[in-house]
Amino acid sequence: MLSTDQMNAIKQSAPLLKAEGTKLVTVFYQNMIRQHPELLNQFNKTNLMNGSQPEALAATLYQAALHIDRLADLLPAVKQIAHKHVSVMVKKEQYPIVGYHLLEAMKEVFGLSEEDDTLLAWKAAYDIIANIFITIEAEMMAENVKQTGGWADVKPFILKKKKQESPSLISFYFVPEDESELPMYEAGQYITVQVDMPGEAYVCSRQYSLSDQYHPSYYRITVKRDGHVSTFLHDEMREGDILHVSMPQGMFCLQDDTKEPVYLISAGSGVTPMIGLVKTASHNNQPFTMIHADRLEDVTAFEQEFEHVLTSSPEGRIILCNEQFEKSGKSELVEKVATRIDRPFLQSVIGEGKGQFYVCGSPAFTQEMILILKALDIPEENIHFEAFGGQSMKEMEVV
Ligand SMILES: Cc1cc2nc3c(=O)[nH]c(=O)nc-3n(C[C@H](O)[C@H](O)[C@H](O)COP(=O)(O)OP(=O)(O)OC[C@H]3O[C@@H](n4cnc5c(N)ncnc54)[C@H](O)[C@@H]3O)c2cc1C
Ligand code: HEM
Repeated sequence: MLSTDQMNAIKQSAPLLKAEGTKLVTVFYQNMIRQHPELLNQFNKTNLMNGSQPEALAATLYQAALHIDRLADLLPAVKQIAHKHVSVMVKKEQYPIVGYHLLEAMKEVFGLSEEDDTLLAWKAAYDIIANIFITIEAEMMAENVKQTGGWADVKPFILKKKKQESPSLISFYFVPEDESELPMYEAGQYITVQVDMPGEAYVCSRQYSLSDQYHPSYYRITVKRDGHVSTFLHDEMREGDILHVSMPQGMFCLQDDTKEPVYLISAGSGVTPMIGLVKTASHNNQPFTMIHADRLEDVTAFEQEFEHVLTSSPEGRIILCNEQFEKSGKSELVEKVATRIDRPFLQSVIGEGKGQFYVCGSPAFTQEMILILKALDIPEENIHFEAFGGQSMKEMEVV
């Protein structure tokens, strides 16, 4: 339990965290990775270097400082982070490492001494917050292992099939090497894939959403050619190769099996979780509208699959958007509109805006959509999102 004085000391440090949080966690990561380079097996090096991971941690610390007397309010955010932690195999023994380097960075960046009251308060608070994560993550891991066919950490899968969906999207189908049945997962969840890249001292871990509904014998992911790992998967992975894969995690799933309308808004590789979600909504007889934008050569990648969904969904709409479409119209059931996804277009499609809204794409796209939806008076609690570059501070502030 924190004392009232400790809580006040932490609350008073909130403005400093807001102003200097990114600097703090950048120093923290640099020092921690220097002393524990093995953590690069779990962290995405690009997210560390481009600042998205430091920003996500800084945002969480800031929110923790603001809510230190009512940490339960942060539980949904904590659960979302815990899903990511379980997916990247964070261990309870690693919390003291993070705690030590975080406090050392606070001393360095904020100029605090070992005996400073603010530092001592954060030390106590870190232990409380770490224990919340450790407890939730232990429950999630136990739940994973308990399921029939479930496993801890990663297990080997064989790449069965590669399918070129469009010039920059390839689907990968892979099956467990031990041929066991796959545990149930929810549409919208993601897995962590570990790739042994030539010349890299550590494995490269990346998350990929499952791009279809549950199937007992295989996972399907769809990868956009983008950088280091995705290019390797596209160019070097051959059918028959082995990949190490985590169990599915994540909370970007349909809220409840209600009859409320569902709006799915995506761009680029953000289409991947939407494929399973749209099929689930169709299966649940929920009215749905899916809006997806991508480059001209990629936007129709899943058109045939979407046509198939719409044949059994009289209340469903799927709209593909690209400004370069020669004209707007329908091929069969899928609509094509010559536009980008902007406020006037969204307003015209969602009308009164009753229902649940799901947004997926790059952090910039996700943030823009959230701002538009909020401007259209969609309540915060009805907006759900997955940002493929990590949940940045700005996104946490707008939702
Ligand atoms: C929950 C979740 C689900 C995801 N699902 C999918 C999915 O279904 N499909 C999918 O394709 N992706 C998905 N992603 C993204 C995926 O995890 C990878 O981030 C993506 O494949 C890029 O990884 P990479 O190693 O190829 O690129 P990286 O090498 O990590 O580069 C990432 C981006 O940063 C740019 N970049 C790299 N270095 C620099 C630099 N120095 N300066 C400027 N720019 C730079 C690259 O050009 C690239 O655009 C998901 C991410 C998350 C968090
Ligand atoms: C209380 C302590 C911690 C907090 C507040 C915290 C916070 C976060 C946040 C906000 C994210 C981003 C989540 C997302 O993108 O959805 C994250 C991801 C991550 N965390 Fe933690 N974390 C903590 C402890 C740890 C520990 C002990 C480890 C172990 C090494 C760890 C390793 C990771 C990794 C590997 C990722 C994924 C990063 C990536 O590749 O993008 N975290 N954490």
